[in-house]
Amino acid sequence: MAKPERLVIVSNRVAVTTDAARAGGLAVALSELLKKTGGVWFGWSGKVSARPNSHPDTVGRGGVTVATVDLSADDYDEYYSGFANSALWPLFHYRLDLANFNRDFYEGYLRVNRRFAHALEPMLEDDDIVWVHDYHLLAFGEELRRMGCEQPMGFFLHIPFPAPEVLTTLPVHDVIVRAMFAYDLVGFQTEGDRTCFLNYVVNEAGGTVYEDGRVSAFGRTIVAGVFPIGIDADNFAELATSKNAMEHRRRLERVLRRRHAIVGVDRLDYTKGLPERFHAFERLLKHYPENHGRVTYVQIAPTTRADVPDYVHIREELEGIAGKINGEYSELDWTPLRYINRSFSRPALAGIFRLSRVGLVTPLRDGMNLVAKEYVAAQSPRNPGVLVLSRFAGAAHQLTGALVVNPYDEQGVADALQTALNMSLQERKKRWATLVESVRRDDVVGWRESFLEKLKSVVDPKRGRAREKRRVGATR
Ligand code: G6P
Repeated sequence: MAKPERLVIVSNRVAVTTDAARAGGLAVALSELLKKTGGVWFGWSGKVSARPNSHPDTVGRGGVTVATVDLSADDYDEYYSGFANSALWPLFHYRLDLANFNRDFYEGYLRVNRRFAHALEPMLEDDDIVWVHDYHLLAFGEELRRMGCEQPMGFFLHIPFPAPEVLTTLPVHDVIVRAMFAYDLVGFQTEGDRTCFLNYVVNEAGGTVYEDGRVSAFGRTIVAGVFPIGIDADNFAELATSKNAMEHRRRLERVLRRRHAIVGVDRLDYTKGLPERFHAFERLLKHYPENHGRVTYVQIAPTTRADVPDYVHIREELEGIAGKINGEYSELDWTPLRYINRSFSRPALAGIFRLSRVGLVTPLRDGMNLVAKEYVAAQSPRNPGVLVLSRFAGAAHQLTGALVVNPYDEQGVADALQTALNMSLQERKKRWATLVESVRRDDVVGWRESFLEKLKSVVDPKRGRAREKRRVGATR
């Protein structure tokens, strides 16, 4: 019997435990994915060391081999903080004003992509399927191909793909997009992202788009598809009633004292629209004073990427706005805004979501936003809360039962909050039924299966030929 293919996942961030204290995001999704399939998970160890290892450190966890390499201080500055998080991240989120292109960053990015490929290559087997994730590793597949690797290779972009007018401000845009053509299948979160990619291919690279999803450019033909990422909805719903969740719920209940909670959970990132969100809450208090003493907004925002200056600025800005709101509106026994700069475990978040009447998810631009889906999954069917969701999150294309808002329109968001806080139980239930159906249907298993099935269908004829060649070689 033929040996089943082994799945090799490659991502910059590798979760150390599945209960990683994170708000949604890539590492959690990949943990869920690998729990079910087993395989290899390769990426950065999260450590910076003077002499980084060229052979990965490996540990077995369940059926998964986790293989990691360290970064040097230069790698960290140029590849991670530099090109990935000071050039690609802001640019792909339409923040041209914050994008910092620097030739050294770019060289460091290519160097680390190459080093990662050299570290993984000796571990690869002929029948492996390689699935590479996110903007840190756009050039990784090309490096593996240069080394002669012929395995099927897919790439999934977790963040938005920008319009060509924005992407072309990056001096090396053509090299980056050309590198994406080393993969057999490139996946995006939304049709809008895929359209931006196709527009680039046709208008900038002189390529051709075929009706069946194939795309040709740079002398290669690949497939570009849409695969909206999901969560393990049943698992998250179970977490929401776990012992740990209940403990956090009770702690929050004690401070709320029957007030309604609005909850936001985001990495402290300038793409999440946090200053705008704080101002929207301020407008809620100003224009709808009946909420004084009745509503508490809990914003959990763990700091990330603290070595990138723009992340320091956003933190300072938020501290100022939060201080102003609480200074102006607090009472002896009521603090309107609880702003917490640390992470919580996933069960704790699930418990907090379940208790909160409103889930407030208003990024200025976001690939998908799994927090929105987690908020939905955590709700009690008997008394569900309301999701207020930015139209610029990928999730807005699926979560049509949410109150969809424009995060730049602070008064509009305040009005939506007021609507959410006063929504009848009947309407909350009706909206939630639509939301939870979508979150359950398009879950993380569906995402994995649809991507991998597509990848196999794209490469099967090619693999058949390669196997044939190997068999002929072996009998000679
Ligand atoms: C986003 C990115 C992921 C990244 C995560 C956390 O979700 O798409 O690739 O891992 O943020 O950011 P960090 O820089 O801590 O890995």
